[in-house]
Amino acid sequence: MGFLKSLFGPKEAKFVEVAPFGARYEVPSGETMLEAALKNGVPFPHNCTVGTCGSCKCKLKTGRVSALTDFGYTLSQQEIAAGFILACQAIVKDPLTQVEVESASSDAPKPEQFTAKLVATEDLTHDIKKITLELDRPIHFVAGQYANLKYPNVKRARNYSFADAPDRDGRQQISFYIRKVPNGVFTEALFKGEMAEMTFDVDAPHGNFHLHPGNTPMICIAGGSGLAPLMSVLEKARKDRVKRPCAFLFGARTQADLYCLDQIKQIEQGWADSFVFLPVLSHEPADSSWTGARGLVTQFITDAMPNANWAEAEGYMCGPPGMIDAGISSMTEVGMNLDKIFYDKFTDESHIAKMP
Ligand code: FES
Repeated sequence: MGFLKSLFGPKEAKFVEVAPFGARYEVPSGETMLEAALKNGVPFPHNCTVGTCGSCKCKLKTGRVSALTDFGYTLSQQEIAAGFILACQAIVKDPLTQVEVESASSDAPKPEQFTAKLVATEDLTHDIKKITLELDRPIHFVAGQYANLKYPNVKRARNYSFADAPDRDGRQQISFYIRKVPNGVFTEALFKGEMAEMTFDVDAPHGNFHLHPGNTPMICIAGGSGLAPLMSVLEKARKDRVKRPCAFLFGARTQADLYCLDQIKQIEQGWADSFVFLPVLSHEPADSSWTGARGLVTQFITDAMPNANWAEAEGYMCGPPGMIDAGISSMTEVGMNLDKIFYDKFTDESHIAKMP
């Protein structure tokens, strides 16, 4: 009888409650947790909506969900074991599901639409350019956030993290580090110099990667063009005279792939507490002049901060998914708390989209 009722009776309503917003909304059948949240005006963090960027990561507190695509493509084993899910891929199964999202910085402004002109480009490495855009008016953002850039002949917006520290009065010029994607329509045109004088649409700021307040040690790891959000976070912390020990590891393939070393030196010199910078090269020829660290950057955490109280330390990582997953493993192995590891995963889908 119960079975027949479940087949033919009225469908039981399913609700989701989201902390820390205190939001409660109904999820109609056929909709994901994220779709229903956005339709109900709940400011659920999100970006790609297809399960690749990790922006909609949340912790399941009550209820069960099924996954449209395996959460394991984007979340690490440690995160899944700790109960994290992706709202954009989650179908709720129970009458009440409770989740908790990582809170955005309390100062994060609402996204707005801007127009911008490309005013400068600079080669940082053989395949990474710094571009500077002049906006139609100043923008406010939190260090670590990103912008959606849309160029007229390209259908999809590209997401790039701000590389500068924000300014109290807003910034009219903003810059980004852009890695060349082979056959990528957007970056090919940029590297050929075809974007000079072009007007971009900018939708920003987005994202909840930011420095959390406190004075515990922080270990930062950047890989490739993932340097941008950490440069923004560290430069802002230097300006604010944030007093906490910091180790900054920068993973690159070879010496030719290291960049912004002068700016990092300035941050190191102006830091209000101890600061260790450790570049680590994974593919430097064995017979080169390099005398520094070699191997995977995520294996040098304890070298960079030998005496840290790991249970209290916070981790900040930006870079490719493989590096982030390895970093989460290394950090949790030394005793760091998963809840104190923050990251911005630079996936193809969210940061270096290849489609026109
Ligand atoms: S919005 Fe869910 S993974 Fe990107």
